[in-house]
Amino acid sequence: MPAASIRSICCIGAGYVGGPTMAVIADRCPTVQVTVVDINQTRIDAWNDSDLSKLPVYEPGLDAVVGRARGRNLHFSTAVDDAIAAADMVFISVNTPTKTKGLGAGQASDLRWVEACARQVAKSATGHTIVVEKSTLPVRTAEAVKAILSAKEQSSDGAQKSFAVLSNPEFLAEGTAIPDLESPDRVLIGGEHPEAIDALASIYENWVSPDRILRTNLWSSELSKLTANAFLAQRISSINSVGALCEATGADVREVARAIGTDSRIGSKFLQAGPGFGGSCFQKDILNLVYLCRHFGLPDVADYWESVVTVNTWQQHRIARTVVQKLFGTVTGKRLAILGFAFKADTNDTREAPAIRIAQDLLEEGAQLAIHDPKVDAEQIARDLKLPASSAPDADSGPTRAALSGEGTWWPSEDIAAAVSGADAVLILTEWQHYRDLDWSHLAPLMRQPAWVFDARSVVKPADVLKAGLQLWRVGEGQP
Ligand code: UDX
Ligand code: ADP
Repeated sequence: MPAASIRSICCIGAGYVGGPTMAVIADRCPTVQVTVVDINQTRIDAWNDSDLSKLPVYEPGLDAVVGRARGRNLHFSTAVDDAIAAADMVFISVNTPTKTKGLGAGQASDLRWVEACARQVAKSATGHTIVVEKSTLPVRTAEAVKAILSAKEQSSDGAQKSFAVLSNPEFLAEGTAIPDLESPDRVLIGGEHPEAIDALASIYENWVSPDRILRTNLWSSELSKLTANAFLAQRISSINSVGALCEATGADVREVARAIGTDSRIGSKFLQAGPGFGGSCFQKDILNLVYLCRHFGLPDVADYWESVVTVNTWQQHRIARTVVQKLFGTVTGKRLAILGFAFKADTNDTREAPAIRIAQDLLEEGAQLAIHDPKVDAEQIARDLKLPASSAPDADSGPTRAALSGEGTWWPSEDIAAAVSGADAVLILTEWQHYRDLDWSHLAPLMRQPAWVFDARSVVKPADVLKAGLQLWRVGEGQP
């Protein structure tokens, strides 16, 4: 198929990857019709909301891109089969979480949504269709997708159909998805059919320079995605492990990160110590790599990568433990304000957010948590903590019954001053810009003294916190 002939694209899955990616493609390729489909009607309705602040994915700059293209050549719909039938190219951008049960539980990716998609494409596609894997998929998934599609090509009702499968992994980071998509470091296209690769490359060439479009075989492309995430996550676990040593020795992890980051061979990015990595990719992809290594008889390599995840979990428990220790060994019945629940700033996504494990540990200890996040809603927090919200207690009245009985509770707080009132400690778990600019001289008098600030993201100015009479713990900072 000649490259210029892509006129209509369908993307299955209107999530954090499919939505922003297709919005940018539609924006940059005004002559291509792009339809994003999803089985989730509520999600599609939110993408079609005339109020652009109600889009289901919060991502800086996304509203402007959707505003320009929606209705022109960008459409959101639940008519999955129609959109597949009309498309020359179908992107599969559905979720691939880690399996929770059965073979490979806890490590292998759950491919049931991908497989369902492949079957739907096999059924509804017409003519020649290029199928592009966009979800993070374990190595050799394309083979399964190919097998499902080629079974259809050979069947009696499939005589008019043909397929080419490509892997085009996503390297966007949430919170910076729009700039990442608009000026990517590289675009990776893996596949076996040069014409199909050219067709997809010609879409990207509308705004990406051709020397940034890398062509590989299918398996290299799939494995590169897992490996890129594993390397990035490994840096975070490395710096967090060094942070603990800094705390024990009197060094400061920010100084160490700066010192090693200026070595051009190491580089400065992904050396920010924190509460551990979260998000939908890092943990899932590393566990997938671990699973693959074990499957291919490489247990030592599997153990090596698995330790990156082990250190990450340890860091989250360690932070909760530090809070308990500093508060005289108990947080039972104590009020704590948690600032930030998203896995990082500038997203409303909470998948694998470090705040979940830290909050759960503190609830287990019987703490009363006031949780603030500018973009995450209370229902999401309740689902993540597996605990419904309580109503906010009155800061002036005495402890609640739950507090006295030692039961952990939490409530959402839209106002930071209200969250902090009566609290023994503030924990900063997401680096929202707003938290960098807090007025501690105003907040400190609202707290119960002696009060602590636990800054797991290095966002506060230490002098301001100390001047307000608060005690400060910062990740990776030892007392010289
Ligand atoms: C990541 C990859 O960056 C992206 O290329 C891939 O396509 C998907 O996974 P994302 O999960 O959106 O993107 O966010 P990222 O910015 O990579 O951050 C991941 C986690 O690491 C966050 O919890 C973040 O707070 C944490 N992090 C990042 C650190 O703790 N320290 C750092 O220095 C950098
Ligand atoms: P990601 O971060 O990978 O984009 P999300 O969970 O945000 O993941 O989005 C995946 C989307 O894919 C969800 O909105 C889900 O409803 C949708 N989805 C899953 N399976 C199918 C399917 N068979 N047909 C259409 N949409 C699907």
